[in-house]
Amino acid sequence: MLILGIESTCDETSCAVVKDGKYILSNIISSQIEDHRDYGGVVPELASRLHVENIFDTCYRAIKDAGIDIKDIDAIAVSYGPGLTSSISVGISFAEGLSLALNKPIFFINHIKAHLYAAIMNKENIKFPLIGVIISGAHSCMVLMRDHTTFELMGEAIDDAVGESFDKVAAMLHLPYPGGPEVEKRAKNGENVYSYTKCKAPQGKFYFSNSGLKTQVLYTIKKIKRGITESEKNNICRSFQDTIFEDLGDKIKEASNVTKIKTFIFGGGVICNTSMQKYLKDRFPSYSLIFSDKILCTDNAGMIAGFAYYSQDKEGVKRPTPRIPWH
Ligand code: KG4
Ligand code: ZN
Repeated sequence: MLILGIESTCDETSCAVVKDGKYILSNIISSQIEDHRDYGGVVPELASRLHVENIFDTCYRAIKDAGIDIKDIDAIAVSYGPGLTSSISVGISFAEGLSLALNKPIFFINHIKAHLYAAIMNKENIKFPLIGVIISGAHSCMVLMRDHTTFELMGEAIDDAVGESFDKVAAMLHLPYPGGPEVEKRAKNGENVYSYTKCKAPQGKFYFSNSGLKTQVLYTIKKIKRGITESEKNNICRSFQDTIFEDLGDKIKEASNVTKIKTFIFGGGVICNTSMQKYLKDRFPSYSLIFSDKILCTDNAGMIAGFAYYSQDKEGVKRPTPRIPWH
């Protein structure tokens, strides 16, 4: 089954062709990072306008690179949320137009569930149940997965998502956007001298709370009255990042103790952080930790078309949905 995937929930316009949920024939990603950089974050109105400009060419290239004719596709899959409503509308409108013109069904896909599927879409012998961990720019959560499409929420972010806290710490240090890769780079040259406290969410052990950690970073910067030095910046990045890693590691350990599951899959942009992957592999040598490939970590339509093969029309027809509860 050939599925054309369309992704436009935030600042990437992406189209992909995937066969049978696994074989990626093309995955074109048109990133808007450069367009938003001067603003220090994604500007929704600008994002949706750029999706309008880019979506036709991105789709055209995805079909061409896949070496197929557009009439060969069996279905169209489009993410309906969570994300920016005006951006998602562009993807959905384009998908609906194609669906009418080609007389093909549309599958409406939950972007977050697709992020989790990205970790396993090109891997063999995946055994359920397992625990899925999403750490992206806008979302952080842990879910128990009994199969490809059965999810039970264990915990999620009650304030800043993990990627968002990386971006905000970077902004406080006047590092370029997106902040995650910059913080990781600086942390490599720093020491954990500030020993920040891990923040606990009252909702439970698997819930993420990073706003307190962010505030600790802010007070470190405020206490330095003269201009902050490069080595102080590096030390802040290292101290912040170590705290995030330890918190995630503690959650993984506790989740495994409670569920007796030792297989974890990871999706979302922060998974690009190779220091984090190393930390987790070193801390849990006997666990099976499965990370999304770099190209599938950040927003892309490959994961949308891939997950659509399993979820098909389970989500039903949806309008752009900025927030989607797990239950
Ligand atoms: O998954 P994604 O594209 O965003 C959402 O769908 O929400 O991920 C983007 C996020 C940004 O917050 C970015 O700073 C973070 O992923 N990120 C990283 C790294 N690379 C990207 N965070 C930490 N370390 C990295 N190397
Ligand atoms: Zn995403």
